[in-house]
Amino acid sequence: MAQRFARRPSFHGVASLTLARLEMSHTDSRVTIHMAASVDGFIARKDGSVDWLETSDEFAAGDTMDPEYVAAFLETIDCYVMGSRTYETALGFEAKGLGWSYGDKPTFVLTHRDLPRTRDSVSFHAGELAPFVNEQLRPRFRSIWFVGGGVLSAECVRRGLADDLRYSILPILIGDGISFFEKLDRDVALHLAEVKAYKSGMVSLHYEVKR
Ligand SMILES: NC(=O)c1ccc[n+]([C@@H]2O[C@H](COP(=O)([O-])OP(=O)(O)OC[C@H]3O[C@@H](n4cnc5c(N)ncnc54)[C@H](OP(=O)(O)O)[C@@H]3O)[C@@H](O)[C@H]2O)c1
Repeated sequence: MAQRFARRPSFHGVASLTLARLEMSHTDSRVTIHMAASVDGFIARKDGSVDWLETSDEFAAGDTMDPEYVAAFLETIDCYVMGSRTYETALGFEAKGLGWSYGDKPTFVLTHRDLPRTRDSVSFHAGELAPFVNEQLRPRFRSIWFVGGGVLSAECVRRGLADDLRYSILPILIGDGISFFEKLDRDVALHLAEVKAYKSGMVSLHYEVKR
């Protein structure tokens, strides 16, 4: 996912202009939750493993993923937000030589713990999610992607912070595991905005959260 620079408000110019810019970027920013899940709605096994993400289905009528399209799409994402357990999984992937999926985009990790910081693009945050998203992220970033896990995604939805859900469903049932949304306490109405099926058997769903 290629870098788009954070548009920090400048210290130059009059205060009112800066404020107007802040408000403008606040209203047109979008918070998207994206994860891949099994057909039975799990994002990882109970022990956190995601070996099942590699599937071998074939759906002849499906689309092919065009790497150039994917790269251009990822370019539009301005920052990532993740829970500490997802960060630890990402560090584990990196240690196994599987790379870091978030490029050099600013990546915010929610945690109360003192975790290793392996790159400059990563920063840590603890505390209430709503002021963090609305007062710190929305004014600076237009496309904000929450990339898991289930605890943080549920918190994001519970606090009414999510605008879009992107759900990539893989052709497999795993029976038990960590849910896409852990302990969601209410119904959330969605509008189906897009559906795509791929040759790999993956179905990609894009929903907008109804307000
Ligand atoms: N299939 C996929 O697309 C996908 C995507 C992402 C993750 N995953 C998998 O999902 C699993 C992790 O998901 P998960 O639900 O267990 O955990 P998670 O959502 O990644 O992380 C939850 C942790 O984040 C911290 N946290 C959350 N909100 C916070 C806040 N407001 N302030 C400070 N800290 C906060 C807390 O940990 P502290 O104890 O550090 O404070 C909390 O226990 C991993 O196994 C990963 O592989 C799968």
